Amino acid sequence: MRVLTGLQPSGRLHLGNYFSSIKEILNLQNDENEIFIFIANYHALSSDTKDIKQKSLELAASYLALGIDPKKSTMWIQSSIKEVLELYWILSSITPLGLLERAHSYKDKIAKGFEPTHALFSYPVLMAADILLFAPDVVPVGKDQIQHLEITRDLAIKLNNKFKCNLKLPNAKINENVAIIPGTDGAKMSKSYKNTIDLFVDEKTLKKQCNSIVTDSTPIDEEKDYLNCNIFNIAKHFLNEDEQLELKKMYKTKGIGYGHLKAYLKDLISEYFKSANEKYKYYISSNETKEILEAGANKARIVAKKNLEEIKNIINF
Ligand code: TRP
Repeated sequence: MRVLTGLQPSGRLHLGNYFSSIKEILNLQNDENEIFIFIANYHALSSDTKDIKQKSLELAASYLALGIDPKKSTMWIQSSIKEVLELYWILSSITPLGLLERAHSYKDKIAKGFEPTHALFSYPVLMAADILLFAPDVVPVGKDQIQHLEITRDLAIKLNNKFKCNLKLPNAKINENVAIIPGTDGAKMSKSYKNTIDLFVDEKTLKKQCNSIVTDSTPIDEEKDYLNCNIFNIAKHFLNEDEQLELKKMYKTKGIGYGHLKAYLKDLISEYFKSANEKYKYYISSNETKEILEAGANKARIVAKKNLEEIKNIINF
């Protein structure tokens, strides 16, 4: 099965990203699947033009550190394959404006104060080009991207009908039981809420982020409620059932306060990502990362060129 995913380089990854999407991609990386994973730097340009180059490299280094294996998966930076822009334009020529006017991500961004640019408006067409160029079987996405997948399918059907093309309709793979990780304030962990616990930060920052977790004010010598505790609800994602039981016991033990529980969580996170952290330091400063991205682009480009040629032949362009 060919699996394709695009990642926006929007700064540091956090625990929410890891448990809700990265883990899923790592699970899909096995002998049966061919993973295509690209850093969506053209997409990033539509909403944030700051440091995209550096952020893209950091994102690639992060994924390599967390376990994307370049021997099994193909990873590249979106803008290394210009064919995507040509398909974007071909798709634009059959995209009804009304279809884009109904896209909520555009409306949401405008409501948040983004400048209404053409790039932001036509974002779903570029995303359709990303997908259709590589003819994946599945595209793992979060719920916020379902509409973009539907638009992709609509455009593929339209091109197929108009020109008797044979574009493969991609299926969204929505992980229904995807974990929602609470942030330090208990709301969903998200960069825009400034409540994240980040990956690949130094121990001091990690400690600071863990210490900022909001708890109730049960005194140290009273039993505490783990069920509604943000520390527990973050920690449990790292623990098996027995380990969770142990942690629940700590909540019942007098003399163990939230300070201890936060320190416990910090150690848990540091230990879990210990080897990833070391690998990150290597990949962020090694030329190997750029080489991996170039090799990935060279591989992906072969597929892109072939598919684009086929489409152009069929539409007689
Ligand atoms: N829009 C996606 C997001 O913000 C990123 C993305 C761009 C993407 N192109 C893609 C995802 C193609 C999957 C397939 O998360």
